[in-house]
Amino acid sequence: MSSSRLAGHPIESLFLDRWSPRSFLPESMPQSDLETVLEAARWAPSAFNIQPWHFLYAHRDSAHWQPFVSLLDEFNRLWAADASVLVLLLSDSVMPGEGGRPDRISTLNSFDAGAAWVQLALQATALGYHAHAMAGIDRDRVRRILAVPDRFKVEIAIALGRRGPVERLAEPLRAREAASGRRPLAEIATPGMFPSERVA
Ligand SMILES: Cc1cc2nc3c(=O)[nH]c(=O)nc-3n(C[C@H](O)[C@H](O)[C@H](O)COP(=O)(O)O)c2cc1C
Repeated sequence: MSSSRLAGHPIESLFLDRWSPRSFLPESMPQSDLETVLEAARWAPSAFNIQPWHFLYAHRDSAHWQPFVSLLDEFNRLWAADASVLVLLLSDSVMPGEGGRPDRISTLNSFDAGAAWVQLALQATALGYHAHAMAGIDRDRVRRILAVPDRFKVEIAIALGRRGPVERLAEPLRAREAASGRRPLAEIATPGMFPSERVA
């Protein structure tokens, strides 16, 4: 995998500027900036425009902060406790029935929530913040502490804030504090049939 952060084809710089640092400055984020970031997520496309996402958030200077930090796994707590805001992204696994059709279990709620996460991250980048997704959370605890109904899937947590100097991180994390590369386009996008080399 290429470790360079150079695009192989012309793309908007925002896509390369978005990456997932772990060093954050422990400062507060204006509510208006958070709302701009969440607003961008609100405009994500979703199957049947169901918009299955729900965002729960805590500012670092609010009473919700410590409970939110306690939902992260040990590794993520090491660095994400410095973020300005923690967001929990949920998705509704039930598609509401329409025109007399009964409610159905959705197969696309996570896919749609993923689209919302990316829009959130790109908008954060455009405002000079960084967003770092975390799958490493205690989902049962999220459900319990934040009273999440069974039909909502707990997807990820997101750390939001301004990037801090690498020295803020514990030693083992410092070497990892760099924007990563990607597989070449020719490896992940191919014409026609599925390429056997992809799984060889
Ligand atoms: C769904 C998802 C879950 C992730 N979970 C974690 C996590 O628990 N802890 C962590 O440090 N990084 C986590 N990451 C960050 C990824 O490792 C990172 O996005 C990936 O290495 C690509 O790097 P980039 O975002 O800097 O381009 C997660 C990213 C995504 C999209």
